[in-house]
Amino acid sequence: MKKITKAVIPAAGLGTRMLPIAYAVPKEMLPIVDLPAIYYLVEEAVNSGITDVLIITNRGKESIEDFFDISPEYISALTRKGKITEAKRISDIAKMANIHFIRQKEANGLAGAVKCAEAFVSGEPFAVLYGDDVIFSKTPVCRQLMKAYERYGKAVAGVKRVPREDLKKYCSLKVEPLGDEIFSVSDMIEKPRENEEFSDLAILGRVILTPDIFERINKLERGAGGEYQLTDAMAALARDKGMTAVVFEGERYDLGSKLGFLKANVCRALQHEEVKEDFREFLKKLSDKL
Ligand code: UTP
Repeated sequence: MKKITKAVIPAAGLGTRMLPIAYAVPKEMLPIVDLPAIYYLVEEAVNSGITDVLIITNRGKESIEDFFDISPEYISALTRKGKITEAKRISDIAKMANIHFIRQKEANGLAGAVKCAEAFVSGEPFAVLYGDDVIFSKTPVCRQLMKAYERYGKAVAGVKRVPREDLKKYCSLKVEPLGDEIFSVSDMIEKPRENEEFSDLAILGRVILTPDIFERINKLERGAGGEYQLTDAMAALARDKGMTAVVFEGERYDLGSKLGFLKANVCRALQHEEVKEDFREFLKKLSDKL
């Protein structure tokens, strides 16, 4: 079985839930304390054994490329000021993996974004990390999914149980149990209406796909929201060949939503060496007033 060494991070969406800021700042570049959300996705991929990452961007998202690049002038300026640790930190980020970029010409949906990766994945299985879903976990979530791929040899969906009333915002999977928190998937539906749900298991931010997804993406018609839905292509794959679903361990933050952005920052700030003590005190005083 081919080892998974490639990951794709779609980051070309409009980010309408994060307007007005998303008009000028890509939501994937919103900070969690002092690192942009997308840094954590690349870190998760690298810690899972990925060597090559393709980030799908579009117009106005050049700051993502700049963040993973080395600016010799900036590094020299830091070095002259004696900020050697900071200079090394920035250079190390650029060297985390081979990071590639491609532009999605029209933000027409997640399937449209993944289609841009066809030449990059070049017939190999690959991981997809949705660009605004940051997940903090003991074992990187990508790695958790790769284990299921290695065991069952099928495309894998990272899932969580979602309250029934919230499923309409996500998708719903038709499953049969395979083992402890592992399921075989025979169908799925994007943004189900009432009574269309298969189960309370929804895909949240991570999948491992096999290259046969592209022929199904190519046959897609526009689905929910008028977009080309990756879920529709995965549903076709699940119906034809089956998929595996893994209930992953980890805390997920949706940086595409205002609440998710705020929660991620509060939780990480409480663990950040530089600010955690002062921030805890601040929160305690604030909570007295709530
Ligand atoms: P979302 O559906 O959360 O992104 O897609 P969105 O369309 O930007 O969201 P809203 O509803 O307008 O706020 C999950 C990930 O897929 C990327 C997004 O950038 C996000 O990281 N995406 C989405 C693309 O790369 N291309 C697309 O056409 C759509």
